[in-house]
Amino acid sequence: MEAVTITHEEPTRYFSNVDRNDPKQLIDYIEGIAFTDEIQYVTKTVFNSLNLKAGDKVADLGCGTGKDAVLISHAIGQEGLYMGVDLSEEMVKYAAEKYMPLGNVQFSAASATDSQLESDFYTVAKCERLLQHVPQPSQVIQEMVRVVKNGGQLSIIDTDWDSSQVSNGQDPVIRDITRRIFSAVFNQHKDIGVNLKKILKDNANLTNIKVKPFLLTTESLDFANKMYCLTSRGEVALQHGLINEAEFTQWKAAMDEMDKNGIFYFTLNYFTGNAIVKKD
Ligand SMILES: C[S@@+](CC[C@H](N)C(=O)[O-])C[C@H]1O[C@@H](n2cnc3c(N)ncnc32)[C@H](O)[C@@H]1O
Repeated sequence: MEAVTITHEEPTRYFSNVDRNDPKQLIDYIEGIAFTDEIQYVTKTVFNSLNLKAGDKVADLGCGTGKDAVLISHAIGQEGLYMGVDLSEEMVKYAAEKYMPLGNVQFSAASATDSQLESDFYTVAKCERLLQHVPQPSQVIQEMVRVVKNGGQLSIIDTDWDSSQVSNGQDPVIRDITRRIFSAVFNQHKDIGVNLKKILKDNANLTNIKVKPFLLTTESLDFANKMYCLTSRGEVALQHGLINEAEFTQWKAAMDEMDKNGIFYFTLNYFTGNAIVKKD
């Protein structure tokens, strides 16, 4: 797995518009992390919350390389449908080649806010790590509500970069630099996780809203760099002028030292949101 090179232009590039960025690099990255223990834990947490049954029709918005297709395909059977939608034609091409042979799986290139999917057709609409990359997350929720039939469910999972931590050796200087690094703009909504409940509550067609956070950690700096682009995030903060060159060097040296001494820790909060669609 190779880390993605993120830059200060990221909010309008990166995963918000894969095809105008570097599709091959981003597909390799998404596929590289898809089957790590961390992302498999996320996949299974979402899957278990769906309670899928034979015949279910599942819309997966921002489906990326379609990593959920196999699990869902087996759970819904051949009378069911998994429909993956992604803005990136390259992601969709990759996913379709890999998973369409399952028979009950289809993919379509479209925006999650204008998916072109049939209204009131799906029993489930889900999205994973999508909302942080779109300009208007509430419009994605509205689109999910539109495609799901009355009584169907929504499932959302996203991260909260704003509350990420690294071990800092209880050094206030490193703690302060780290906070400023995580306050940098990495994508369009770095604090979407903690705001998920409000976004769901604001939609008048959603009921039984349940939001639950959980924390994922890694104790390897190398893995944090590959999976979470940790050092790149320091570079973004530097480019934004949130930290200076000396602070970046000091922070990087502290990370290396903690890793060498076996006391390195990186944490990332995830938030899952489930809700029932009510259209009476
Ligand atoms: C971090 S990836 C997550 C992919 C997948 N959900 C997964 O869990 O592996 C974000 C995905 O959202 C897609 N995306 C970003 N903006 C989008 C939009 N407005 N509409 C649909 N897909 C979008 C990207 O192309 C990318 O594939």
